[in-house]
Amino acid sequence: MAPPKTPQAVVDKINADVNEALRQSDIVQRLAQLSAEPIGGTPQATAAYMREEIERWHKVIKAANVEARLIDARKDAMEATAHRWPEEGLTRVPYWVYSDRDLYEEEQARIFRGPTWNFLCLEAELPGPNSYRRSNLGAMPVVVTRDQDGTLHAFENRCAHRGSLLVLNESGEARDIICVYHNWSYDLAGNLTGVAFRKGLGGKGGMPAQCRPEDHGPRKLRLETLSGLVFGTLSARRAAARAISRARDRRPHPPRACARR
Ligand code: FES
Repeated sequence: MAPPKTPQAVVDKINADVNEALRQSDIVQRLAQLSAEPIGGTPQATAAYMREEIERWHKVIKAANVEARLIDARKDAMEATAHRWPEEGLTRVPYWVYSDRDLYEEEQARIFRGPTWNFLCLEAELPGPNSYRRSNLGAMPVVVTRDQDGTLHAFENRCAHRGSLLVLNESGEARDIICVYHNWSYDLAGNLTGVAFRKGLGGKGGMPAQCRPEDHGPRKLRLETLSGLVFGTLSARRAAARAISRARDRRPHPPRACARR
């Protein structure tokens, strides 16, 4: 079997050489010992042999496909059973809920990055100006700070350059935050204030002239405090703000001091 478009003269030459080789006495003898038939004896014999082989392999592939479909169907059935809610109802939480990747992603998006307030830390954990504390918003690392004026801020604890952690200690004091990797710096409100080699070096590299560092800080959170607890959200929706003010209204009144008799 020659590749398509092989010139006929070449095919004839190869066939002639093969037939010549098959007539050699040592090859004839060896084939007889093996009780084998030469398949290249004639083009017709080769074609017949190839047809048989193709048919045989078609059967093998068909059987394998059927088997693969059966395996897939079994897998689908197992997954469907595995994700079925128990008949007892909401009084049972099945184990797959805790490890399902899609549920996890939805939880991060709707609860932690959605219009909800998430507890970050206590106000008391930021005792004075220029203090910071690490926290989390679901899977997102967050740093909460109190700036020099006493105002609280929170932003994603990831450098705007390559995403490495900005603050490594659990808590501490600092006037600004400097990424340990390539020295980009931030103020305590999470604004990018310094970019190392912003103008490049020796006329090479650097940021484009129109680049504005203030547009490239980490994601900032809105903050609210309630009875000394600090809550943060990425959402700008009003509903989240209303939830905090409703919680404020429902706060129990502080106990009255007992009058001495
Ligand atoms: S990763 Fe922070 S400066 Fe490069």
